[in-house]
Amino acid sequence: MDVAEAVATRFSCRAFLPTPIPLDIVRDILERAARAPSGGNVQPWRVSALTGDPLEKLKASIRARPELLPRGEGAEYDIYPPNLKEPYEERRRDVGAKLYQAIGVKREDRPGRYRQYARNFAFFDAPVGLFIFIDRSMGPPQWSDLGGYIQTVMLLARDRGLHTCGQEAWTHWHKTVYSLLDIPPHFILFCGIALGYADESVPINKWRAPRASVDSFATFAGFAR
Ligand SMILES: Cc1cc2nc3c(=O)[nH]c(=O)nc-3n(C[C@H](O)[C@H](O)[C@H](O)COP(=O)(O)O)c2cc1C
Repeated sequence: MDVAEAVATRFSCRAFLPTPIPLDIVRDILERAARAPSGGNVQPWRVSALTGDPLEKLKASIRARPELLPRGEGAEYDIYPPNLKEPYEERRRDVGAKLYQAIGVKREDRPGRYRQYARNFAFFDAPVGLFIFIDRSMGPPQWSDLGGYIQTVMLLARDRGLHTCGQEAWTHWHKTVYSLLDIPPHFILFCGIALGYADESVPINKWRAPRASVDSFATFAGFAR
C-alpha cells in the first residue's frame, strides 16, 4: 500500500473484529512510527499497548462504574477550547450528527448517544488498545509532535490491513488508566488508539467524515500555472 492509499483509506473505525494482533506487528508499527519527525528530535511520545487480560481488566473496571458516565473521572485537559469558534463548532456538530445518524440514534436520544460514547471505553471491541502519553513538562510544539507520531501509527496500521480510532475520550478515565498501567506521575494521558481489523459490515464504519475544501484553508502564491 502506498502512502496516498493509506491516507485515503484511513478513517476512524468504531467497530472491530476480535481477530488478535500478534505482538511483533504492534511492536513493528510503534517502532517504525518513531521515524516521525519531532522538533529537536526530542521524540516526546510514550506508549502503552494492551491486549488480552490487561485490556479486559481495564475495560471491566470501567464497566463496573456506569454511574460515572459520561464524564468518568473528569477530563484532565480541555478536549476543545471552552467556546469553540466557528467554523470549528459547526464541523464538530456535523460529524457528531453524521455518526449518530449512521447508527440510527436521534439527536434527542441522550441515552442512545451515551451508549455509543461508552463504546470508547471498550475500545470499540478492538483487540489492541494503545495509550499515548506525553511528559507534563512539554508544550504545544511537542503535543504537535505527538500528533505526527499518532498519524504515522495510523498509516502504518493501514499498511498492515489494520484500522484505528484515536480516542481523546480516554482522558475521562485517566486515573484508572494511570493506576492500572503504573504510569509515572510526570506523564499525562493524551489519548487512546483502538487498533485492529475493521468490521466492515456495520453501519458505523460505512460513513466518512467530510473535509473542508483545500481553498478554504490554503493559499498558493508564486506557482507557475
Ligand atoms: C487525537 C484524536 C482523538 C479522537 N478522539 C475520539 C474519541 O474519543 N472518540 C471517537 O469516537 N472519535 C475520536 N476521534 C476521531 C475523530 O472524531 C475523527 O478523526 C474525525 O471526526 C475525522 O474523521 P475520520 O478520522 O474518520 O476521517 C479522535 C481523533 C483524533 C485524531
